[in-house]
Amino acid sequence: MSAVREHFGSRLGFILAAAGSAVGIGNLVAFPVAATKSGGGAFLLVYALFVFFICLPVMMAELALGRRADKDPVGAYRQLSGGSRPWTIPGWLALFTPFMIAVFYLVVTVWILGYLVETLRGNLDQLATETHFGQFINSPVVFVYLVVLMLGINAILAMGVKDGIERASKTLMPMLFIMLLGLVIFVLTRENAMLGVKYYLIPDFAKIDSAVVSKAMAQAFFSLSLGMGIMITYGSYMKRGDSIPGSSRAVAITDTLVAFTAGLLILPSIFHFDPQIDPTKLSDSSAGMIFLFLPKIFFALQDSIGYFGASAFAAVFFFLVLVAAVTSLMSIIEVPIATLCDERGMERKKAIYTIAAVQVFLAVGCAVSFGMVKFFTQFVTLAGESKSFFDLIELLFYDTILPLNGLLVCLFVIYKWKKTNFDKELQEGDSSFAGSISQKYINFSLGTFIPLMLLLIFINTVALKFF
Ligand code: PFF
Repeated sequence: MSAVREHFGSRLGFILAAAGSAVGIGNLVAFPVAATKSGGGAFLLVYALFVFFICLPVMMAELALGRRADKDPVGAYRQLSGGSRPWTIPGWLALFTPFMIAVFYLVVTVWILGYLVETLRGNLDQLATETHFGQFINSPVVFVYLVVLMLGINAILAMGVKDGIERASKTLMPMLFIMLLGLVIFVLTRENAMLGVKYYLIPDFAKIDSAVVSKAMAQAFFSLSLGMGIMITYGSYMKRGDSIPGSSRAVAITDTLVAFTAGLLILPSIFHFDPQIDPTKLSDSSAGMIFLFLPKIFFALQDSIGYFGASAFAAVFFFLVLVAAVTSLMSIIEVPIATLCDERGMERKKAIYTIAAVQVFLAVGCAVSFGMVKFFTQFVTLAGESKSFFDLIELLFYDTILPLNGLLVCLFVIYKWKKTNFDKELQEGDSSFAGSISQKYINFSLGTFIPLMLLLIFINTVALKFF
């Protein structure tokens, strides 16, 4: 039999843990890269509208679902649908999606850990060379880092929700905020930094087209950890009596502020490195940015602050991204753990070992798919193009399925679980919510244009990625 369900000890603890999930590589790197390419301030505006008018209601829906059912995503859909079989399908999707995203994200986090260690060893000059990344990801040392990372994350998870996830988040998140602020202040005082700030903030509305709108939405969804079963699971650990609307707002604001602030770090750094640069020509992907371009920028800092100073700056940056990635990974790995505990009555420690074993196995498959093992390197052929195992997981799960999962959450909450039950859950701990404009907006939008928009975004993303 499963033990009594653990809950977060305090509202702040929940907010920091959920913000820890939300703040990740998506905020620190993917967001600034996307904003750079897609109209600066114009992208920020579209993104902020999506966060507050579309994503926030979905986050509340996920949290409410989890807290009411007090269960993992599969159990939550099953229980609140009264055991309907078709309605457990979104539950399984909300389990499978995070499981696969975790694998892909683990591999990227392993590289970050590797870059941090190399920087600390004084090898920033090597990281800044063109060939280093390719050599690094194909060297066996990545397996060592993978094991170290998994041991670290699972050790935290093994301590449980309150003593593990919550306590770690309460230490790591404030640390993350301080490091980010420190780096931003340093960068903003560098030469030509203001060119970067201008580039970042001045809106170019001409760049906003359907692809950019779709990108902003997918980015907002990914950044807030929606459609991944995470908020359903964290909702199930939330105390009764805590306000879901209030906590969701705090998480969304924190996440968006961190993403915004990260732009104030990345763009000024780029312009300090080269004031003539055209940032739209830079790498499209977060990985390209973190592992190929940023090390060059950090290395160039030695001209003004010396090699040691540049290495220290780079080390703080990689550590910052590592902390953000680890708190995100904790949340995503927690989803399948919760499912094994809730659905199979498995003991927590056993569930942790089981999930860790399968994920390491799949992560190794990803890690060797850059040339080490041909089977994984040329895993499938899609539209005449050979794709690696890593590429395939990224293509299918990175942001493609998230809007679909979000759409199913909205339909479920409003039409199956029903508005009145949802409202009751939102009003708990927040009496002013009843009858407020927020409540009316959330009820209306979740049953109408939010699912419609998510459907369109899903179709658009699939069309862009696969056809
Ligand atoms: N919100 C996270 C981010 O922006 O990076 C998304 C995420 C990815 C959460 C991977 C958890 C995770 F393991």
